[in-house]
Amino acid sequence: MASRLEIKPLDATFGAVVTGIKLAEIDEPTWRELYATWLKYALLVFPGQYLKRDQQIAFAKRFGPLEFEMAAISNVKSDGTLRVEKDNDDVMKILKGNMGWHADSTYMPVQAKGAVFSAEEVPTVGGQTGWADMRAAYDALDEAQKARVDALQAYHSLHYSQSQLGHQTRKSDGEYSGYGLHDGPVPLRPLVKTHPETGRKSLLIGRHAHNIPGVDREEARQFLEGLVDFACRNPRIYHHNWAAGDAVVWDNRCLLHQATPWDMTQRRIMWHSRIAGDPASESAVAA
Ligand code: OGA
Ligand code: MN
Repeated sequence: MASRLEIKPLDATFGAVVTGIKLAEIDEPTWRELYATWLKYALLVFPGQYLKRDQQIAFAKRFGPLEFEMAAISNVKSDGTLRVEKDNDDVMKILKGNMGWHADSTYMPVQAKGAVFSAEEVPTVGGQTGWADMRAAYDALDEAQKARVDALQAYHSLHYSQSQLGHQTRKSDGEYSGYGLHDGPVPLRPLVKTHPETGRKSLLIGRHAHNIPGVDREEARQFLEGLVDFACRNPRIYHHNWAAGDAVVWDNRCLLHQATPWDMTQRRIMWHSRIAGDPASESAVAA
């Protein structure tokens, strides 16, 4: 049977919009084609899916075991009222933190494989999500730069990245679940990650990365910041203007992502299902 998958590549080094299917109803052959398409493009955008909670979790589980099933990423509290921006509570600090380029769970012993992410309610302007292709960024380095990053590692910590925003993470106001703010060993990861399924190399950088063994702390900070600046530029980035009902799935093993600002008197309700990394390939090298 001919597949109904319609794949339209984005105007970037990665990513595609996929139409012609309902994620809640895909059969095995379509699933296999979809997974191969995901590995190739790293980001797939599915407009107008309106996934229900169980459907989103079931779709995410096709990619593998989940790190967590479904978390609201939102400025709306569970009681339906708006979180006030200037209160700057722990959840607000995490929402602001998400606006820096990052990969998910690199601060955990095993980084995430990917995420299924969907929009329930979106602001009229702003609040896009951006992704950046770290495969293309690595490929764009010259040979000397590649040799340098190939040899380096960095520590990844959510305490570190949030502290850069003035978030005193060890004094929680109790509302944020505290996910990722563990007191375990700080994971050390290579700056260059080889994708376990495609074999492609990519830069593993972003806001959680800091402190390169063998490099002066301040020099490392500037070097890592410079790499993110270089990497997260056209044609290696795409920012999605959300419509309610859209869903995406991204490969956290080769992309960075970020939220972008919006008028926080407007509601934004997003749902995140985090796909667990394979300990064989997504574990930290040491801690
Ligand atoms: C996340 C994240 C970005 C956004 O959920 O991990 O970074 O646009 N979200 O909300
Ligand atoms: Mn994230």
